[in-house]
Amino acid sequence: MRIKQIREAIEQLVDTSRHQTLKELNAIKHIGIDDEKKSVILIITIGAIGGQAEHNLKKELARTIKLGLGYRGIRVQFEEEKRIISSKTKFILIASGKGGVGKTTVTVNLANALARLGKKVAIIDADIHSSMVPRMMEMNIIQPDITEQGRIRPFVKNGIEVMSTEFFSEHGKPILWRGALIKSMLSNFFFQVDWSPELEYVLIDMPAGTGDTMNDISEIIPSALVLLVTTPHPVAIEIVIKTGMGYRELHHELIGIVENMAFFEDPTTKEHHYLCGKDGGLYAADALQLEILATIPIAKPKKNFIIFDEDEVVGEIYHDLATLISIQN
Ligand SMILES: Nc1ncnc2c1ncn2[C@@H]1O[C@H](COP(=O)(O)OP(=O)(O)O)[C@@H](O)[C@H]1O
Ligand SMILES: [Mg+2]
Repeated sequence: MRIKQIREAIEQLVDTSRHQTLKELNAIKHIGIDDEKKSVILIITIGAIGGQAEHNLKKELARTIKLGLGYRGIRVQFEEEKRIISSKTKFILIASGKGGVGKTTVTVNLANALARLGKKVAIIDADIHSSMVPRMMEMNIIQPDITEQGRIRPFVKNGIEVMSTEFFSEHGKPILWRGALIKSMLSNFFFQVDWSPELEYVLIDMPAGTGDTMNDISEIIPSALVLLVTTPHPVAIEIVIKTGMGYRELHHELIGIVENMAFFEDPTTKEHHYLCGKDGGLYAADALQLEILATIPIAKPKKNFIIFDEDEVVGEIYHDLATLISIQN
């Protein structure tokens, strides 16, 4: 009777890392009462241990049990819901201050370069409103299959597993979703996709700036690696510094800067023209105490839409970037 009362009181609370109630998630694993101490003992599964979601839920549980039901104490043991992605997998958020600076281009090329090094890589396209990864990877836009266990089967291109809202949206129609829906789509990418258990790197193509998605991702992955992408233009630099500080504030680890569209090399004279400004990357690196891990010129791949092959100059730059990242992380 008392157990039922406790269950009913707490099952509507939300695990903000998965954006569903404890009831929907079947997350209440045990309810006990220590009569001597007038205290409630709970075992609850949660999407991510050690982050904001755990903090929120702990507070709400204490409020409900103590203020709502009048118990003196509460002891909660959180167990991390088994994410499909292994705990050894490195998550790299590809972030920037401004849009259009080349996040998706860098994500796709870095993923390909890591895959060429023999790494098991996936891309999660977290830029829900302007998801571009499948098109930049030159993939067919079709709805994914569902496995026998009811999970979404990721698409694979060049050995890279890819998941994006683009596969779910009607072709050519804009996505007008608001926060809650974006969040449930994002958490589905982490909890409902049948990712390979051997993934070593998951690159997450983020939307520009420090909006909702940054906070949502932080609840799912409390401490990720962050690669900042910027052009040298003063406008981009100012915002990327702020964005970097925002990610640090959320306890992510900035691993370095990619300066994209850094210059244009005249094919005949080999002279460099700094069309988007000069030394902006250095300024940002200095302000954030980071290294510039790659300097990428304005260029177009010879064969593919966006992906540079290994034997192209820019392909080599991505190869070096992938090597550096795989050694350091
Ligand atoms: N180094 C580069 N040289 C030339 N064009 C580039 C380069 N990097 C990106 N672009 C182009 O700039 C546009 C924006 O790039 P994108 O990767 O979509 O940026 P973001 O994801 O930051 O919005 C795209 O058309 C892309 O092809
Ligand atoms: Mg993009």
